Amino acid sequence: MASRGGFTSKLGFVAAAAGSAVGLGNIWRFPFEVGRNGGAAFLLVYLICIVLIGLPVMTGEITIGRSTGSNPYRAYRKLGGANWSWLGVWGIICGIMFLSVYNVVAGWAFGYFVGVSFGDLLSTPDLGGYFSTSIAEIGDNFLYSLAFMIITAFIVSRGVSGGIEKAAKILMPILLTLLVGIIIYSLTLDGAMEGVKYYLVPDFGAITIPTIYNALGLAFFSLSMGMGALITYGSYINKTDNITESATLVTITDTVVAFLAGLMVMPLVFSMGQSPNAGPGLLFVTLPSVFQAMGPITGKIIGSMFFLLICFAALTSTISLLEIPSGLLVDEKKWSRKKVVWLTALAIFVVGIPGMLSHGAVDGLTNFMFYEGRAKSYFDVVFDIFSDTGLPLGGLLMSIFIARKWGMDKFDSEIESGNPTYKDSAWRTFLHITMKYVSPISLGIIFVITILQKFLGISLFG
Ligand code: TRP
Repeated sequence: MASRGGFTSKLGFVAAAAGSAVGLGNIWRFPFEVGRNGGAAFLLVYLICIVLIGLPVMTGEITIGRSTGSNPYRAYRKLGGANWSWLGVWGIICGIMFLSVYNVVAGWAFGYFVGVSFGDLLSTPDLGGYFSTSIAEIGDNFLYSLAFMIITAFIVSRGVSGGIEKAAKILMPILLTLLVGIIIYSLTLDGAMEGVKYYLVPDFGAITIPTIYNALGLAFFSLSMGMGALITYGSYINKTDNITESATLVTITDTVVAFLAGLMVMPLVFSMGQSPNAGPGLLFVTLPSVFQAMGPITGKIIGSMFFLLICFAALTSTISLLEIPSGLLVDEKKWSRKKVVWLTALAIFVVGIPGMLSHGAVDGLTNFMFYEGRAKSYFDVVFDIFSDTGLPLGGLLMSIFIARKWGMDKFDSEIESGNPTYKDSAWRTFLHITMKYVSPISLGIIFVITILQKFLGISLFG
C-alpha cells in the first residue's frame, strides 16, 4: 500500500472525488443541456438518473476499488478472473480518449481566462466569430491545452496525498466561493427571474428519447462514473471509511454544483436578453457577450472570476482522468510515478491533437462522420462514443458484474467495513434493488436505444 500512496482521510477522498466530479460537465455542459432540452423538465430527468443510477454505480465503483486496492484492470481481474479484466481495460481506454478531448475544452477555458483577464477579449465586437476563429486556429489551442496538461501532470506527479488531495483541498473551496459570489451577483440583475423561471418551471412536452439519453450521459459524465476513475480513487481509501456516506456526499456536492451553475448562468443569459440554447457555445459566446454588456470594469471582474472558476473545475477533473492510466502503470510496471505521469500526459496530449483540429482547422476532422442528422467532428465522435455511450456501458457492465459475478454478499460485506449499521439499513435494500434490477435494466434499454437512434438513425418512437 505504501508505495501506491493513499488519501490521508475521508475528507481528503471526498474532496478529491468531488473535485473529479465537479468539472466542465457541471459548468460547461449542464447549463447548455438544460438550456436546449426544455429547462426544468430536463433537470427532473437528470435528478432521477442521479438517484436511481448514479448513487448505486458510484457506490459500486468505490467498493470495487477499496475491496481490491487496485487499478480497474487489476481490480476486475482479482474479483472476476481474466475474462473480466477487459472491463477495466475498456474503462482505461475511455479515460484516455475522454481526457484527450476534455483537455481541449479545458484549453479553451484557459485561453478565455487569459483573454478576459489580461487581453482585450471583452472589447471584441463579434464574439461568435471570435470563438469560431479561436477554436479553429491551431496555435493558441495547442498552447493552452498543452499548458493545461502540464499543470495537471505537475499535480498528479506529486502523488495521491501530496498532489491530488492537496490540490482538491485548495481548489474546491475557492471554486465554491467564486460560484456563490457570481450567483449572488447574477441574481441581482434585472430580468434575472426570467432565467430562474425558465430554469425551474418544467415543460414536460420537451421530454423526448434524446432528452433521456442526454440526461443519462450527462449523469455519467458529471459524476465521473463508468470508466474506473472511482475504482482508482476508491483503491486509495481506508477500510474504516464509510463508503455509502462518502458516495452520497460526492453525489450531492456534484449535483448541487451543477444546479448552482445553472442558477449562475441562466440569470446572466436572460438578463441580457440572450437565448439559453446556444449549445456548447453558451459559455464561450453568450456569456462573454453578457460580460461585455456589464461594462469594462464589472465585466472584467465577473468574467475573470467566471473563467477562473471553470479552469479550477476542469483541473480537478483532468487530475482524476490522468490518474487512471498513471495509477495503473505505477502499479503494474513499478515505474516511478514522476516518469509515468509525464509520459502518460504527453501521450494523451498527442492523442488529443485531432480533437484540436476538429473545429475548422482540418476539414476531414471537422466533418468526420455523419449521424443524428448532422455532420459530426472527430471531437464530437470521441465524446459520443467514449463518453455518452461508453460510460453508461461501463456502468451497465459493472452492475452486472457486481450482481451476478462478484456477488451482492461480498459487495455488502465490503461496505459493512466502515459502516456497521449497513446490514439492516434501507441503504442495503436500495442498493440491492438498484444494482440488481433498476440500473442494469434501464441502462441496458437506454444503451440499445442510443445505438439504434443515435448511430443508426433508427427511431423507435416516431
Ligand atoms: N466529472 C467531470 C466533469 O463533470 C469529468 C470527469 C472527470 C470524468 N473524471 C472523470 C468523467 C472520469 C468520467 C470519468 O466535468
